[in-house]
Formats: sequence, structure tokens, C-alpha cells
Amino acid sequence: KSIDNLCFKSQSKHSSSSVVVKSEIAQRKDQTDTTAERKSFYVLQEERLEQAERSVLINCPPKTNEKKFLKHLSSHGEINTCFFYESFGTYAVVEFSKKESIASLQDGTIIPSIQHEANVPFKSRLVSLKLNNPGDLSSVPSSTQCLRQSAIPINELVQRLSGADTIDQQLYTLTETYQLTEDNVRLRFLVCSLLKDIAAAYFPECTVKLFGSSVNGFGKLGCDLDMFLDLDGISGRNSKKTVGPFTLEYQMKRVSSERAATQKILSVIGECIDQFGPGCVGVQKILNARCPLVRFAHQPSGFQCDLTANNRIAIKSSELLYLYSSLDVRVRALVFTVRCWARAHTITSSIPGAWITNFSLTMMVIFFLQKRDPPIIPTLDQLKGLAGATDKHLIEGHDCTFVSNINRINTTENTETLEQLLKEFFEFYGNFSFSKMSINIRKGKEQSKPDVSPLHIQNPFEQPLNVSKNVNQTQLERFVSLARDSAWILQQDGMRHPLGAGAQPWGLAALLLPSASQTGGKGKKRRKREPASERIKSLLESLKSNKPNSVNGNGKR
Ligand code: GTP
Ligand code: MG
Repeated sequence: KSIDNLCFKSQSKHSSSSVVVKSEIAQRKDQTDTTAERKSFYVLQEERLEQAERSVLINCPPKTNEKKFLKHLSSHGEINTCFFYESFGTYAVVEFSKKESIASLQDGTIIPSIQHEANVPFKSRLVSLKLNNPGDLSSVPSSTQCLRQSAIPINELVQRLSGADTIDQQLYTLTETYQLTEDNVRLRFLVCSLLKDIAAAYFPECTVKLFGSSVNGFGKLGCDLDMFLDLDGISGRNSKKTVGPFTLEYQMKRVSSERAATQKILSVIGECIDQFGPGCVGVQKILNARCPLVRFAHQPSGFQCDLTANNRIAIKSSELLYLYSSLDVRVRALVFTVRCWARAHTITSSIPGAWITNFSLTMMVIFFLQKRDPPIIPTLDQLKGLAGATDKHLIEGHDCTFVSNINRINTTENTETLEQLLKEFFEFYGNFSFSKMSINIRKGKEQSKPDVSPLHIQNPFEQPLNVSKNVNQTQLERFVSLARDSAWILQQDGMRHPLGAGAQPWGLAALLLPSASQTGGKGKKRRKREPASERIKSLLESLKSNKPNSVNGNGKR
């Protein structure tokens, strides 16, 4: 590929409008619906990880001439893709066509000479570009275009939504605005692959995989990076049977349980990340949580990272969500919208506590879509029924079997609009019998609640567990009350269409305003929203009732 093409590519991407017009949405829906062979979760992950292995992350001086930069790098081999972004400086992600180019680049990379301090000599694929002759290059006008890696603020989103023509278009616009971009996904896999290099210093055969919203189809720009250190290759789990009279076994240290082994491994890897990991800061080892993890910030990418190990069920639940997100365009649109609505009203929070989590909200949307007539998505038991022989998975005694080939699942006959679905979602949960019933996406039917937790959402794979065990009564009541308010707003005729040029937010935009209940609530007898002081009180209550380790980064409960 010529360098000119590459420059053009990165610039044209930048200029593409993020406001989605209806015809584009219709086209996208058609594309999704008619693609004969859609890739499975694992195939996609492997492709992305392989791409990442051929990539480097380069910190560039502010005025780097993109053309000269790419020409310089292409001396190591053909470049597939390159893009720039800002995060504590300007960075470039450069993907080569061949892995050998990385070795060549590293061969030509020097150790910085520094005074008063010393280098920790760990060579990674995070490097800095230095100008040998600063006067020379900086005189050329800068040609790098930086792509945005974070979500726009909610007030900008509200404005953008107010310019749409229909509520359906608003939901799609929200999804398009917030979803992870192609470049952001590349960056996520690259950070994951950089982490693998650190872990490989101890465990050369390990892999580090992504799970959670980075890969489940519901990731929003700026969401955290959930990683999983996979040692299956050396854990003995996948051991082959040997033939002949003898077998050689590795001698290994023994510990009391898998959990203890995971804690030991994460403890040393956490130490490694802290001591040697370039760009990794604020490392915390949270090893006593139900699902032990190492949490840190990766400064060059700006990602908040959670690294876990031995967490294969969470990978399965990411695969399941990915499957649901790929089945019908309405699934993602509704999940993104409900998550954004919940965040705007502080129903969810970035601080762990008695709040409903994004994961629980996603389960609630999935359950609701399973209950439509006809259903929009199948139940987990139905997906299990479609599983092939290679889809059988028993993890720690839990049946995690379901079909991995999306093409085997029939598309729905349901033609409801997103406007209808959103309104009915709020009505459904505004009237749901939370005190008696549990939400169960395996059966697609509510079941009697097995315990007294205010909100009970059965863990789809570890069935005796409740994924929303952390939620207290106050937080559930806030959710129900806001759902009722929002259903009521969407029923108002004046709220269903644009209110004229430059007019106030309408439809979904109105639902995202903090004062949603007042915006649409004039002159009708309806439940009064609690005053701000009450809301603050309930937030404090939730904080108080937050027990240590009741929630962790990947919240395995
Ligand atoms: P974000 O809020 O965008 O980060 O969504 P997320 O889905 O990535 O959630 P989070 O980072 O909290 O958790 C990562 C993954 O861990 C989820 O996607 C689930 O697969 C799993 N997970 C999170 N919370 C729970 C829980 O309460 N129970 C179980 N079983 N798994 C959970
Ligand atoms: Mg996450």
C-alpha cells in the first residue's frame, strides 16, 4: 500500500460525520441481516489479537509530519494501518503486515540515555519517536489528524439527538455516537497484547484475552478494559493423553486451591506490571475479591484496566452477550440507550456500590426482548438447543453450552419499532413484580425469587448466583420510579416528534435530561419525584451499605 493511501485513509476517517442518517441505518441493518457468514466470537478475537501482535504504539512529538513518519517506519516493512490519537501526548498505532517488521523495528530502537535516573531495561512495543533534527521536521506543517477515543459529553449528545426526525433515529444515533470505533477496538487489543508481553516474561505460553464490554458488542467509548490471563496451555486443563509405557510429568509447586494459584499468579504479574510495565500506573492488587484482579491505568491509551485470571465463565458470558448483540440491530440500540439513560440519572455509577451495574441492565434488556411477542431474541436454553458438538462447555461444573455459530439462529419476525420497545421497556420494569419474581434469561420467563434480595437476576451460567446481589431497595426503587416517569414522558404526544427548529429536547433527548420528570410532566397528576436532597441521601445510604468486596471489577457473584 502506498503511503499516500494511508495518509488519505486516516484523514478521511476523521472527517466522517458521526450523525447518522436514516438511509445509512437501513443499509447497516440490511448488511447485518444478509451477511451469509458472520464470524464467531472466537474467530474475531483471534484475528484481532493477531493484528495486535503485528502492531506498535508510538509516542510522537506534537508536530510530526505523518508522511515522513510513515516513510521512516515503512523501512521495517509494509504498513497495513496507522492512526493517531491524543492521550497525555500524541500517539500513533501502527500495524505492520508482517510480524517480522516488529523485530526489525525493535532492532533499530535504542535505549534512551538519561541523567540522574536509571532505566528499567524492559523492551516493549511502546516506543517514542524522537526528532534527530528538531528544526527540520517541526517547520513542516503538522499533518496528523487525531481521532477521538472518548465519548462526547451528555449535553452535546442531547443536542445531537434533538436534531433527529424520529425516536428510532435518536436511538440509532446514540448508539453510533457512543459505540467503540474500529480504531478504539484496535487500541484495546494492542494494550491487551502489550500486557501479554509482560506476563509472558513469567509464563511464555500465556495469552491475554479481552472480555466484558470491549468485546461483547455493548462497549461505549471510554469503558474499562477487562482482561483475562489465560494459562490453559500450561494449567494441565487441556493435557493430552500420552502413549507408550511412560509419561513425563512436570514437577510443579502445589497450592491449596485454584483460587490460591490465581492469587499467586496475579500477585507476581501485578508486581511485574507495577515494576516494569511502561505506561502502567496506579497498580492495585485486589486479590481477596471473589474474583481476584489487578487494577491499573494504562496511561498511553487512557484505559482503566482490570486483569483477572482463571475467569473463563466471564468470557463465556461476554460471548453470549456478543451473540445477542449481533442478532438484531435493535438489541444494541436498546442496551446503549438504557445504559445511557441510567448513567444520566445516576442509576449506575463508576464507583462500586449498591447501584445497578451495566451488566445487570443488559440482562434486563435481554430478558425484556425475549419476552416480546414474537420474541426478538431466543432464550439461553434455545441457544443451547442449537449447539453443535464443539460448543459443549462445562466450566467448573457449570453448563456453559450454547451455539457459537450465529448463522444457525433464525432471525425474528418481530417488527416493533425502537420507540415502541423503549416505551414498553419502561412500562415493563415500571410494573415488574420485583418483590416476588426473579429475571431469568436462560428460560426467558420470570421465576419465583429464591431469596430476599431486592433485585434478583439469575446468573445465566452459575445459576444459584444473583448478578444484582449488590443492589439495595433504595436503588431499585429509584430505577422503578424513573422507569415510570420515562414511560409517562414517552406517552405524551408532544414528546414523540421534533418540536421545531431550535426547540427543546424531545423524545429520547428529553429522557436524558436530569429534570426529565418536569420536562414532560406539566398539568398531569403523577407521582412526584423525590427532591434532590432525598436523592443525595439515598446515594449516601447506598455508599454506607456497600460492603468491601461485595462488588469487584468484574463482579463475579
Ligand atoms: P462496562 O460497564 O462497560 O465496563 O460493562 P462490562 O460488561 O464490561 O462490565 P464490567 O467491566 O463490570 O464486567 C466485565 C464482565 O464481567 C461483564 O461483561 C460480565 O461478563 C462479567 N460480570 C460483570 N459483573 C458481573 C456479575 O455481577 N456477575 C457475573 N457473573 N459476571 C459479571
Ligand atoms: Mg468493563
